[in-house]
Amino acid sequence: MMIILMLLLQFLMGVYGENFIQDLKITWGNDRGKILNDGQLLTLTLDNYSGSGFESSKEYHFGKIDMQIKLVPGNSAGTVTAYYLSSKGDTHDEIDYEFLGNLTGQPYTVHTNVYAEGKGEREQQFHLWFDPTVEFHTYSILWNPQTIIFSIDEIPIREFKNRESIGIPFPKTHAMRLYSSIWNADQWATQGGRIKTDWSQAPFRASYRNFKADACVRDAGRTSCSPRTLTWMTKKLDDLNVNRLKWVRENFMIYNYCTDTKRFPQGLPKECRVRE
Ligand SMILES: *[C@@H]1O[C@H](CO)[C@@H](O)[C@H](O)[C@H]1NC(C)=O
Ligand SMILES: *[C@@H]1O[C@H](CO)[C@@H](O)[C@H](O)[C@H]1NC(C)=O
Repeated sequence: MMIILMLLLQFLMGVYGENFIQDLKITWGNDRGKILNDGQLLTLTLDNYSGSGFESSKEYHFGKIDMQIKLVPGNSAGTVTAYYLSSKGDTHDEIDYEFLGNLTGQPYTVHTNVYAEGKGEREQQFHLWFDPTVEFHTYSILWNPQTIIFSIDEIPIREFKNRESIGIPFPKTHAMRLYSSIWNADQWATQGGRIKTDWSQAPFRASYRNFKADACVRDAGRTSCSPRTLTWMTKKLDDLNVNRLKWVRENFMIYNYCTDTKRFPQGLPKECRVRE
């Protein structure tokens, strides 16, 4: 009976999540980053000495990457939890989520950005339709040669399409590793830096579980994709998801570089002027 249960459990784990011990490693912050429960849970903490962070053991090149995250509860003002894919080097690519904490009862800000060939400046920010500190929610990045889709609990919040045809670089040539970290950014993060981190609330803790990388893996100069992973390569938003994205943009978007004419007095970036 016990053996059957254990096998079943292993099977379920295989389906629903990878094991953190194999797939992720704590890279800084000493014991402020922890892998717990036989690799099923990971926590990162920040205190007045240091934050902490992890990275994936593997490099990915296209696919869908999901992680369930529960953000720092209570008064998290001043803290930033970053969760992103990034390549190395000067002309690096990056696909970013950053979660900016807030005072108790005030909304988190989800900051997103896309870097291609070293250039970012493509920020969009959102508030959420739920409190991200109470339960785990799934934060996903779908990345294929045509598009990048950020989604939360399978609801798309942002799409960055490949516009190489009009000369906009798209993250395509570099494999990327997954990173996450928690750090103090009270110089700017919360309400423009007016609200400082309250260290009496430390340690600040973000929790992670059910990491799933349905992604092509780049190793020793070779990329390998499983048949299941390949199904992501042609995915785009269907009508239902186009509408969901619209709902998010209309109700929860609080900043869009594409409408920031003050910031771009010479004219908005080219990709912002494309008609769908
Ligand atoms: C950090 O916090 C601890 C506990 O509150 C306190 O004893 C210590 O002095 C603080 N250290 C710094 C560098 O602020
Ligand atoms: C914090 O709450 C304020 C007030 O609701 C809001 O304007 C702001 O966008 C929130 N987020 C951050 C990171 O300041």
